[in-house]
Amino acid sequence: MGSIHDEKKPHALCMPSPAQGHINPMLKLAKILHSKGFLITFLNTEFNHQRLLRTQGSDFLYNVPSFRFETIPDGLPPPENNNASQDTASILKSMQQTGTGPLQSLLAKLNASNSPVTCLVADFLMGFTLTATEELGIPRILLWTSGAGSLICYDQYPNLIQKGLMPLKDTSDLVNGYLDTTIDFIPTMCGIRLKDIPPFVRIVYPGDEFMVEFSHIEIERAKKASAIIFNTFEELDFDILDHLSSKFPPCYGIGPLNLLENEYDDKSLASIKSSLWKEESECLKWLDCKPPLSVIYVNFGSITVMTRQQLIEFCWGLAKSHCSFLWIIRQDLVIDGSAALPPEFLAETRNRGMLASWCLQEEVLSHPSIGGFLTHCGWNSTIESISNGVPMICWPFFADQQPNCWCSCNKWGIAMEIDNDVKSDEVAKLVIELMNGEKGKKMRKNVIDLKNKGVKSCASPSGSSVEEGIGRTSVKPCRG
Ligand code: UDX
Repeated sequence: MGSIHDEKKPHALCMPSPAQGHINPMLKLAKILHSKGFLITFLNTEFNHQRLLRTQGSDFLYNVPSFRFETIPDGLPPPENNNASQDTASILKSMQQTGTGPLQSLLAKLNASNSPVTCLVADFLMGFTLTATEELGIPRILLWTSGAGSLICYDQYPNLIQKGLMPLKDTSDLVNGYLDTTIDFIPTMCGIRLKDIPPFVRIVYPGDEFMVEFSHIEIERAKKASAIIFNTFEELDFDILDHLSSKFPPCYGIGPLNLLENEYDDKSLASIKSSLWKEESECLKWLDCKPPLSVIYVNFGSITVMTRQQLIEFCWGLAKSHCSFLWIIRQDLVIDGSAALPPEFLAETRNRGMLASWCLQEEVLSHPSIGGFLTHCGWNSTIESISNGVPMICWPFFADQQPNCWCSCNKWGIAMEIDNDVKSDEVAKLVIELMNGEKGKKMRKNVIDLKNKGVKSCASPSGSSVEEGIGRTSVKPCRG
């Protein structure tokens, strides 16, 4: 195939971290850049590329010559289940160890064409890209796809270890209330509890030592980036981005990307999609038959897993709430058994429950019948919920989800938290409160207010996410 790129345009090589919650925002960013005149090469791992071909069909690859796809291997052996999320620590470790050579070869190939790469836009977690871009002297922009507050927490890992607060002395600290200890030295997050810090630093689960070391290495590499961009907006995260800009290269909030993407809607890219699972669209038809704000939407994203007992607690909690629900249950959601739901539950909720294994989440969240979201607080889910004015119940699993939950409940007043040791009575109580209670009303008002600010931030040409990202006035210290 001869060169199909136009050499006069800037050429961005966009490389997401190989997971659903990272590919989605990178694709949105790539589409926005394309609409601004960039040529795009979108770089997936071979494994994810094959998954996309299976779920989206091959048409989406070839329609647009100025937006093309390339792949590199992820360095892992083929998985047993090629329709499930890859283990986070394994994939990051493998990319770190094996990614440089294939990336250098790809860059050499692209640079030998008449449209050399002028800039790399990489996921923050793809820090290994630094070697190749330094060699070539091209700018490297990083995309932080998680909640901005979590980056402050990761940056505090050495401090937490030095103060002796982490790692845990032993696993009894998980249940004796120690993690409820509040700390006051994390900038912009005064009063956060130890349990709200991304849990890798607890070092209780296998793989977490690697994640602690990895976050340290990636933070140091990020300091050599040209800029860091975040899927957030000034009115939501000004203090956090302002603080980060004092420690890192310039930090810009350019989100919510799902709203910004609509502003720069490029019809020629409509066929390019990023869902790794096949979406079941029947649930949208089901929602069409429900009254406004009457349905609680339940979805734990692409990576969260739970025990069978936790699944059962959620299921009876939803039954006891007597609310209508749309519940998305991935085939690999349950770690120690089947994800099948008890027949008594299915019989009892037949007239008010809808189940599916994957959905078009953005369309679900913008549907008028959705009144609340029971979520694991992945950042995409959180920002998609905010930008649709939907209040949340949070059950964070790992990584940035704990600080996302803390910010949602304590800073923004748009969510309530479910205890990690989930019980059906608590689920029912919170669902009823969210959908019909006074607290739920207040949270809905707050989240609609944030949604309106998010819309304004993306409205061209003066919105903060469009115009210049985040300013850099000094942030108040946490203490004193
Ligand atoms: C992961 C991390 O867990 C998360 O904390 C981090 O911020 C990004 O990477 P994930 O757990 O999958 O992501 O959650 P989330 O961030 O919410 O991303 C899931 C994405 O998949 C969202 O964009 C959501 O719209 C989409 N999705 C999810 C669907 O389209 N359909 C579904 O049924 C479920």
